[in-house]
Amino acid sequence: PFHSQIPQPPALPFIGNVTYLDRELPIQGFALLAQQYGEIYLLDILGRKVIVLNTQELANEVSNDAKFRKGVIGSLDEVRYISGDGLFTAREDEPNWAIAHRLLMPAFNTMAVRDMMEDMRDICSQLLLKWERFGPDHVIDPSDDLTRVALDTIALCSMSYRLNSFYTENQPPFAASMTEFLRECYIRSTRPSLVQALMTGTNAKWESDAKFMTDVATRILNERKEKPIEKKDLLNTMLYSKDPKTGQGLSDDTIVKNLLTFLIAGHETSSGLMSFMTYYLIKNPEIMRKLQNEIDEVLGGQPVQYQDLSKMPYLTAVIRETLRLSPTAPMRMVQPLEDTYLANGKYFVKAGASLLVNTWVYHKDPKIWGEDAQEFHPERMLNGKFEALPPQAWQPFGFGIRGCIGRPFAWQEVSLVMASIVQKFDLSFVDPTYNLELKQALTVKPKDLFIRATPRNQAP
Ligand code: HEM
Repeated sequence: PFHSQIPQPPALPFIGNVTYLDRELPIQGFALLAQQYGEIYLLDILGRKVIVLNTQELANEVSNDAKFRKGVIGSLDEVRYISGDGLFTAREDEPNWAIAHRLLMPAFNTMAVRDMMEDMRDICSQLLLKWERFGPDHVIDPSDDLTRVALDTIALCSMSYRLNSFYTENQPPFAASMTEFLRECYIRSTRPSLVQALMTGTNAKWESDAKFMTDVATRILNERKEKPIEKKDLLNTMLYSKDPKTGQGLSDDTIVKNLLTFLIAGHETSSGLMSFMTYYLIKNPEIMRKLQNEIDEVLGGQPVQYQDLSKMPYLTAVIRETLRLSPTAPMRMVQPLEDTYLANGKYFVKAGASLLVNTWVYHKDPKIWGEDAQEFHPERMLNGKFEALPPQAWQPFGFGIRGCIGRPFAWQEVSLVMASIVQKFDLSFVDPTYNLELKQALTVKPKDLFIRATPRNQAP
């Protein structure tokens, strides 16, 4: 096969391409490089080589469990400090991954998630009540309140534990620690280890955030052991079930790591998705009106029920389009199991190389979505168009064996919460000229987005 060099920006001695990274907003640095270098480029980050893939074709090629495995490298490797061999950060050959995967998949399938509807509604109603009581003049930080919803929902549904985030004035302490911890995980992965060792203050803060979160998870586990309950939730599954294949259960240590995994993986991404969706709906009033019409028609003024969710195709299309334009888990890493070529022999990659699937960029591949790929059009996802997309053109939940275990959970939660908000309120920007800005820890969220919510029956 013919063989061409993977392009690389000019590198400096020792540090390589570190200066091209954007510490505040990593996806922005990567997106700029994609504009310049195209479908693929290589970065040297302190001697660690990362190959970045920017098109549907390349993303599809490496979405293949027989030839590539998930790469637990860079910032994900730093996150292991708290979640270790828990589901999200485990390496494929760690036995606890397979055991937890087999035990927990059934606890998060569509049927199991349906039974969580009432708990989801409980938390959702706390948000609706808050916005209603504060009234139409109150300035709302939607990311803040939607983080409360997502965090409390995952804790109540999977651990029967009330974090009561709506009763704290500031950001819930767990969410605050986590944001700081995850942001630092990314920066650590770009710092020389000698420099890292000298940053004692930063390291102490990172460790104390980690300890705070681990203490929360340990407390949840210990309280359950002291006061067992009957409910078949995630925590009881981890405590009492045995792996059908090996007969093994999970140790307390592994349970804590997986509780942390679910608290982390289970809320940032969903709350980001709901925040982006809020932005796109306010920015596009005709889309908002169409969605409100659908919701009013299906619900007839009644609260959302489980069976309503499948009757709202426009809602589904809006969620899909939000996840296309703003996939809140913006990238993932894979490694080839053997030396291989990509793009029909064009690019050689070694076994174990770090390949970064840039979901944020390739979800806007103009070859797939056309010249208006950067624009928000839920119509792209309607009337069979979604089903007819080229393979892996839309991949916000990752791929294959290491794909998202929480997808049905997130889908149901986001559908319920967003349908309920849009049913009850007219939303507007506090600053009518606001345009989307981004902030990033491990996941991406809108920055400085402030809104008002006017109960619809009071609207002029
Ligand atoms: C894995 C996205 C919600 C739990 C993943 C991956 C992605 C993702 C892209 C693969 C990561 C990789 O390849 O490195 C999302 C998005 C969500 C969401 C966009 C919301 C919109 C959730 C929720 C939960 C969850 C609600 C928990 C209930 C997990 C876990 C894994 C995972 C445990 C690791 C699975 C494994 O490796 O075995 N998610 N996720 N996620 N997600 Fe989600």
